[in-house]
Amino acid sequence: MPIVFDQVSYSYDEKAEASRRRGIMARIRKENRADVQDGAPPEKPAWGSTAHQAWALRDVSFTLEDGEFLGLCGHTGSGKSTLIQHTNGLLHPTGGRVISDGADLSDRRAAQRCRFDTGIVFQYPEHQLFAETVLADVSFGPRNLGLSDEEAVERSLEALRAVELDANGIADKSPFELSGGQQRRVALAGVIAMRPSVLVLDEPAAGLDPRARAEMLRLVDRLHHEGMTVLMASHNMDDLARLSDRILVLNRGSVFMLGTPEEVFSRGDELRSIGLDAPFAQNIADSLRARGIPLDRKLYDIESLASALSEQYRARNCDGRAEGKDAEGASGNNRSDGTHHA
Ligand SMILES: Nc1ncnc2c1ncn2[C@@H]1O[C@H](COP(=O)(O)OP(=O)(O)OP(=O)(O)O)[C@@H](O)[C@H]1O
Ligand SMILES: [Mg+2]
Repeated sequence: MPIVFDQVSYSYDEKAEASRRRGIMARIRKENRADVQDGAPPEKPAWGSTAHQAWALRDVSFTLEDGEFLGLCGHTGSGKSTLIQHTNGLLHPTGGRVISDGADLSDRRAAQRCRFDTGIVFQYPEHQLFAETVLADVSFGPRNLGLSDEEAVERSLEALRAVELDANGIADKSPFELSGGQQRRVALAGVIAMRPSVLVLDEPAAGLDPRARAEMLRLVDRLHHEGMTVLMASHNMDDLARLSDRILVLNRGSVFMLGTPEEVFSRGDELRSIGLDAPFAQNIADSLRARGIPLDRKLYDIESLASALSEQYRARNCDGRAEGKDAEGASGNNRSDGTHHA
């Protein structure tokens, strides 16, 4: 079920803008201006003619392909969360269209259908936990789908297993007794219990300690490898480089880059020009390259960089030893020559 963004623009000020324009039209009508027809649409402001903040997305086009892991990054305020809320019709474009499974999400019924298939995990989803028990919280969505109690519980237990929580141990606990990492996984289970085929996550590892972060990201990676399509916003370039098939970079609401991690992170200077950066290992590789060390991969992570450097070190040492041997051989010959001559 690909999700197609077709020149999507979004303004949070749309309502305010619409009412301002209605006011202007009313005033014009009152003044009986002959050159304005009743109901004539007022002109929309062009991009840039209003404050940047008014336009959260500008002409964004891309397709979230079936089965892919698309990373989403951009500086604070670049439009990641706004884009995410367009993936299942929570927000409707001010201009352009979002097509999911062939249906335009501006159609309310299409948006409702899509909400079951595209699950969004918002930033800090644990803040939305509310029920008295973990099971009640996770089964809230399935119950809302109109499933029987039995089916809702079955789905919830399955979802708790999918997020690697021990359902027997925690189903009857209050979610608020759990650790931050566990609470977040309960929130994720609530989305998974709807059995979506597309999982959209807004900075799922933000604010977790290193261990919980690693667990959460491993979990997302596993869900992707089990067949889920994933769109994940993150500020962490190392995570995006490691997990994504492709990366979409937003800058001030527009698509700045879209490509494989290799393509995107080989353009470190351009990323830095919009306040982003390449992954840590990639930056080290770039500065080593600048000092003449031959590193030919486009994208390095810590492991691949360490192994490339250790190979080079070994190769140099071997060469060094070989050279040493040659030198030794040569002086040996001299010695033997000397001996011979002696
Ligand atoms: N509810 C809102 N009302 C008005 N403007 C908003 C609202 N939410 C976001 N914006 C504005 O829209 C733009 C995009 O914000 P958005 O939250 O989508 O960015 P983001 O990339 O998710 O940022 P962050 O990395 O901080 O989460 C920003 O200029 C922001 O100030
Ligand atoms: Mg955000």
